[in-house]
Amino acid sequence: MPEWDIERIDTPAVLVDLDVVEANLIRVQARAQARGLALWPHTKTHKSTWLAAKQLDLGAQGLTVAKLGEAEVMRAAGLHTLLIAYPLIGPIKLERMTHLLEHGATVRVALDSREAADTVAEAARRAGTEVGVLIEIDTEYHRVGVPPGEAALPLARYVADQHGPRYQGLFSFAGHMSGNLDEEGRRRILEREATILAQTRDILVRAGLAPEAISLGGTHHSARMEQLGLGTEIRPGTYIYNDRNTVIAGSCDEADCAASVLVTVVSAHETWAVIDGGSKTFTFDQSHLGGFGIVRGWPEIVFERMSEEHGILTWSGRTPLLRVGERLQIIPNHICPVINLHDASYGVRRGQVERIIRTDGRGKVQ
Ligand SMILES: Cc1ncc(COP(=O)(O)O)c(C=O)c1O
Repeated sequence: MPEWDIERIDTPAVLVDLDVVEANLIRVQARAQARGLALWPHTKTHKSTWLAAKQLDLGAQGLTVAKLGEAEVMRAAGLHTLLIAYPLIGPIKLERMTHLLEHGATVRVALDSREAADTVAEAARRAGTEVGVLIEIDTEYHRVGVPPGEAALPLARYVADQHGPRYQGLFSFAGHMSGNLDEEGRRRILEREATILAQTRDILVRAGLAPEAISLGGTHHSARMEQLGLGTEIRPGTYIYNDRNTVIAGSCDEADCAASVLVTVVSAHETWAVIDGGSKTFTFDQSHLGGFGIVRGWPEIVFERMSEEHGILTWSGRTPLLRVGERLQIIPNHICPVINLHDASYGVRRGQVERIIRTDGRGKVQ
């Protein structure tokens, strides 16, 4: 593909710095490998088969997806080793899961109910194959997950006793690591997660159900691998691009942010300016510090509010800072839903567009 200057990109548009992406992928892969952790990157951040293939080439063991629709996209691109980090419920999911298995995918699923285990078991039997099952434990994020300890035993036993699903171990997502916390608060969550999982593991071991895998998330974990008490694998997603929230949480530096939104100033005033991207470009995803992103090169400017197609940047003092036509790069609060709003991103290197990165899994929420 011929290279061209980023000045020729219309706005708003997502820019992805390929040098930073490669550095992020290589760094986390190497650190996981050094600690004996298998990397199962969560592809919900980029939703790109090209980037997923890159992650596998660099040594990832398989790919994590949230939804079956994302798994179908990856499989269609020949990326077959998948962890669906979401319970599959109902007859339609059963049919689609069976189809996925019949077309060459090797799948593992995280789940917390007999209903979800039944979907997996029936799909595996119909397709004449096995599906790995990880029992999701609620490690106090209080989303999906069975309570820890003895309460995990009946479901693990239910899965292990069936034909089709293959009981593999435990799964945890401590999503509350993203909250408004200091470093000590994050350390305590990791410690607590490790304690809960170790207690649950010991109960399972005594019952003859020793987990061969313990899967942990996400980017806040991958930035603190030395603090992980146990775990055999890790599922960071945001680490490939990073965003304002991972910077604020101390999980990366601003220089590690690979993705930004290129925008144009369309209206300028004494104390504010308007950019050509609003909630349909950035989402309303919050940061506990307020504001909707980092305006690169302008630490004094706050991305204060949005309507659908307008973003309002403000600053203190009465000196106009921005002029109409100026182009800015903004690092969003949360990059994952931003990518899902855009058909494609522009992969750039040193000011030149090197490739278009299609968001293959865009909108695949089913
Ligand atoms: C189950 C699960 N695992 C892993 C991740 C990846 O986390 P992060 O985006 O912080 O890297 C997520 C993110 O939402 C998730 O829901």
